[in-house]
Amino acid sequence: RVLSGRGLDLAGRHVVVSAGGTREAIDPVRFIGNRSSGLQGYALARTAVARGAEVTLVSANVGLPDPAGAKVVRVDSARRLREAVLSAAGHADAVVMAAAVADFRPVRQSDTKIKKSSGEPEPVHLTKNPDVLAELGEIRRAAAFPRVLVGFAAETDDVLANGRAKLERKGCDLLVVNQVGENLAFGTPDNAAVVLSADGGSVEIPRGPKEDLADVVWDLVVARLS
Ligand code: CTP
Ligand code: CA
Repeated sequence: RVLSGRGLDLAGRHVVVSAGGTREAIDPVRFIGNRSSGLQGYALARTAVARGAEVTLVSANVGLPDPAGAKVVRVDSARRLREAVLSAAGHADAVVMAAAVADFRPVRQSDTKIKKSSGEPEPVHLTKNPDVLAELGEIRRAAAFPRVLVGFAAETDDVLANGRAKLERKGCDLLVVNQVGENLAFGTPDNAAVVLSADGGSVEIPRGPKEDLADVVWDLVVARLS
């Protein structure tokens, strides 16, 4: 059933969506994580299926039912997410990076549970994770493929200026900028955003269901694919 009234305008297209938030292990029972629920990424996957796309959903630590009709690849860490996204992106028309990818991971992961023991705790030293979206931007610069790259950004201040700079830095076509706070974004069914495009345009999406935002993103993707 086509819910959006947009018809099957993604038929014959393969899209990759990443969703959720990565976890970076400290030891076998502890990790560094983030508050991403996966709701926006799953809404993107569902709406893309409804519009006829072949969908690969790279899902990082999301407690939601698999969207019917999507191929779901489960990952844990940023490095695993990178492997899954890059391998699916090889035959994708569009990649939408809705996942919250950890910027840093512990340098060392203990094979055994770290014990409380006596004295002061050892500091957790961090190192940078690969930037998957920036890497896709590089790949696309060289290979002109995948044709459309979409990033997400949650900003708390200077939302538009930070978003514009980020879009350029990552080499993506569209950047969906959420303002975090005021009970928006994380874990809620609603979202509000501005979608910035590389050609200088911007589309404001008023507060509403994450499905509606997803459909506007796919409208912009479809326009760039045809
Ligand atoms: N992203 C990614 N790989 C990373 C970090 C982020 O692919 N290691 C992607 C996210 O999935 C998102 C976009 O990049 O689509 C923007 O993420 P964001 O965290 O806002 O950007 P950063 O470049 O990490 O900048 P910041 O310092 O603001 O966190
Ligand atoms: Ca980040």
